[in-house]
Amino acid sequence: MNIAFRDYLALCQQRTEQALLHFIQRQASLPTDPSGADLTSGLYSALNYSLFSGGKRVRPALVYASAAAIEPDGSGPALDCIAASVECLHCYSLVHDDLPAMDDDDLRRGRPTCHKAYDEATAILTGDALQCLAFELIADCREIPADQRITLVKVLASAAGSRGMVGGQFIDLSLQQHQPALELLETMHALKTGALIRAAIAMGAIVAGANDEQKGALDRYGQHIGLAFQVKDDLLDIESSTETLGKRQGSDLANHKMTYPALLGVVGSRDKLAQLLDSARQALQPLGANARQLLQLADYIVNREY
Ligand code: IPE
Ligand code: IPE
Ligand code: MG
Ligand code: MG
Ligand code: MG
Repeated sequence: MNIAFRDYLALCQQRTEQALLHFIQRQASLPTDPSGADLTSGLYSALNYSLFSGGKRVRPALVYASAAAIEPDGSGPALDCIAASVECLHCYSLVHDDLPAMDDDDLRRGRPTCHKAYDEATAILTGDALQCLAFELIADCREIPADQRITLVKVLASAAGSRGMVGGQFIDLSLQQHQPALELLETMHALKTGALIRAAIAMGAIVAGANDEQKGALDRYGQHIGLAFQVKDDLLDIESSTETLGKRQGSDLANHKMTYPALLGVVGSRDKLAQLLDSARQALQPLGANARQLLQLADYIVNREY
């Protein structure tokens, strides 16, 4: 990773974390019982635990970089709302993904998963609250015109729901132990992981005022890099270690998941990844030099170590 890009990623992470902290603190006027004790402090503890645990913040970085590809100098607080919103949605998806009824994982970002550190009911409610917070952040964002906020809510809701991430997660669970088929695998990955990544890119573009042609180019990039993100995640599950990943290596194999390496093998999956990176790069061509951070993010997604 070159130094300029490393600094850029660190800046995106910092902005996202500051925004998340601000929004969580703004919420934290807690209901109390008659003796004055906080009734939801356990929930807020789990929310903080799930939000501030060393996530890479790739989706927020895509929000910022997508906006920068359209409007290089526009880096206002509007983007911080969107970056934080997308990250809340993502963190909710992880908390629920790890639950015993789903992937039943005990390690995430190098620490016990939410339901292990707290309990299952708290993890379910933490995910619920994070999902609501994601939409509240957009609805509340005064820096964005009201009609645009409605569009952004719609984009995120479609990407997150039954025709997006949740639909993909449902397919993922229903296909465990099934005979793999490439087209189905691609659809599942595009939904469970690609949809939110695509939405992050679309939302950055909307806030930056992209025209239809620019939105089209960014969406093509988003489709390729969204799929690439999960192909790489599947490969890392095989090739990396629990220590590096911060999550249990081999979890997919243990759960009999339908993955790219299961279907194409490790070499075939690497080839697929290279093709997707190439297509993502080509999609950015109409955007010229302003898309350099998106280019670097594509490289990062495909070559990351965890
Ligand atoms: C993991 O996402 C879940 C997938 C969609 C593959 P990330 O790899 O972005 O996880 P964090 O946020 O950095 O922990
Ligand atoms: C998760 O895919 C996709 C989500 C919507 C969270 P995985 O189940 O492969 O993600 P990890 O490997 O647990 O992070
Ligand atoms: Mg899963
Ligand atoms: Mg999982
Ligand atoms: Mg995985």
